[in-house]
Amino acid sequence: MSFAARTLEQTLVYRAWETPFVQQKFAPILAHNSIGRVRPVLDVACGLGTNTKYFNGADYLGIDFNERFIRGARRRHGRKFLTADARTYVASPEDRFDFILVSSFLHDLDTKDMLAILSHLKSLLTEDGHIHMLELVLPKKPGIARLLARWNRGKFVRPRDEWRRLFDQLFVPVVFQPYRITGMGTSLWEIVDFKGKQ
Ligand SMILES: C[S@@+](CC[C@H](N)C(=O)[O-])C[C@H]1O[C@@H](n2cnc3c(N)ncnc32)[C@H](O)[C@@H]1O
Repeated sequence: MSFAARTLEQTLVYRAWETPFVQQKFAPILAHNSIGRVRPVLDVACGLGTNTKYFNGADYLGIDFNERFIRGARRRHGRKFLTADARTYVASPEDRFDFILVSSFLHDLDTKDMLAILSHLKSLLTEDGHIHMLELVLPKKPGIARLLARWNRGKFVRPRDEWRRLFDQLFVPVVFQPYRITGMGTSLWEIVDFKGKQ
């Protein structure tokens, strides 16, 4: 495990780092969806359940393989959370989701694992359901921004076109929108928002 990953494992550090950017990161999802109307929601690699608040009216399930995060999420949000590795997670046969959220997770996975997980998630969508993915873009040019992206998010951060190509392999695209997260008066990261259906 990299130094960055070990640091992110520390719950408090993780919260302090993520909190200022959560609203910005989630804004495109709020803009493109009537989020108050979604029915069952699956939040894959939910971390501390920071995104739970957007789904107050929905039947929500968050999964993450970090038991400490899941305990913290249950305590804080009182919703349904399950400790599970997304690589081996199999939903109950009757479980189908209207809204599957995969936020800031796929950069942890090599392409084989990522496509296997996404194929399984596709099979869990309701007929008119959508998957929503938010992922960090690897800057094209070598430099500080690229180093920071790798340091912050591990070795599978991908360029924008590669995210697009991989997502399009499995889903019919509805939205593909790159956008920027800003802070301290500057542009910090580029994120892609992908919404797809079966
Ligand atoms: C950067 S956090 C993102 C948390 C949340 N989705 C968000 O948007 O704030 C990445 C999360 O992925 C989880 N994770 C990494 N590999 C996983 C796996 N194989 N199965 C389930 N969770 C995993 C980590 O424990 C961590 O909580």
